[in-house]
Amino acid sequence: MKGIILAGGSGSRLYPLTKLYSKQLTIIYDKPLIYYPLSVLMLGGIQDILIISNAETIPLYQKLFGDGSHLGITISYKEQAAPNGIAESFILGEEFIGNEGVTLILGDNIFYGNLDFLYSAIQKKKEGATIFGYRVTDPERYGIVEFDRSGSVLSIEEKPREPKSDFAVPGLYIYDNQVVEISKNLKPSPRGELEITDVNVEYLKRRQLSVEKIGRGVAWLDTGTPEALLQAANFFGVIEQRQGLKIACIEEVAFNMKFINKQQFADLINSIPKSIYRAYLEKVLEDAE
Ligand code: G1P
Repeated sequence: MKGIILAGGSGSRLYPLTKLYSKQLTIIYDKPLIYYPLSVLMLGGIQDILIISNAETIPLYQKLFGDGSHLGITISYKEQAAPNGIAESFILGEEFIGNEGVTLILGDNIFYGNLDFLYSAIQKKKEGATIFGYRVTDPERYGIVEFDRSGSVLSIEEKPREPKSDFAVPGLYIYDNQVVEISKNLKPSPRGELEITDVNVEYLKRRQLSVEKIGRGVAWLDTGTPEALLQAANFFGVIEQRQGLKIACIEEVAFNMKFINKQQFADLINSIPKSIYRAYLEKVLEDAE
């Protein structure tokens, strides 16, 4: 299973910050936003990851992650020349995906809580598509999934004016290899984008779409506005300070997932400047001794 992080978009709602760099580099409490979705893919057991972004921002991601080898993963990069939609990821990523399945996460989507549901969905490697449903109070802003009484999916609509349910589809999608061909056959929507919702509708037509509801113990946070960014930072600040555990700490995740061994973890820590972040990782290593 391959992984893609789409970290593009104009981020115009966060102007002037996004005049400098893409939204996914914004700091959420103590680390760049993209650490959160990257850690989610890693927790899903994915070790081969493509980051898609615009030409100006890719060098900044390369500075952050390099080729990923220090984390026991492989990170490669691909340019998206214009914000042509989420589904373009699979066209840009065709060569990277090869004959495999792919999990896509949007670079501005944050998930926190027990993510075992994700790990098992990824490792099951079923045919078709697995997406998720998450209850929200503002369904008109998202892709919305409608269920019948037995829980079967009736429809999926992108940003409906009159939503048929409160279940939004978060930016986390698990597909088999058909997704490449499906995306290539899409037509741009009225907003000029290749819509991920149209990909999901096609899987629904093929009767190969499964939608799993995410339970109330998991937080899916939005980062689209200044208020949402502040709320997310406060949320993670409160939890990290209370527990003394870091969230989305990719070096710790790499070690816990056994992508790197103790010696590699120690070497990695030595390469990090003296900081609260390093002190935290030193403690993780010490606790493992
Ligand atoms: C996109 C998708 C939408 C999905 C949302 C999740 O919306 O089109 O279906 O629910 O991401 O974050 P956009 O970010 O383009 O508004």
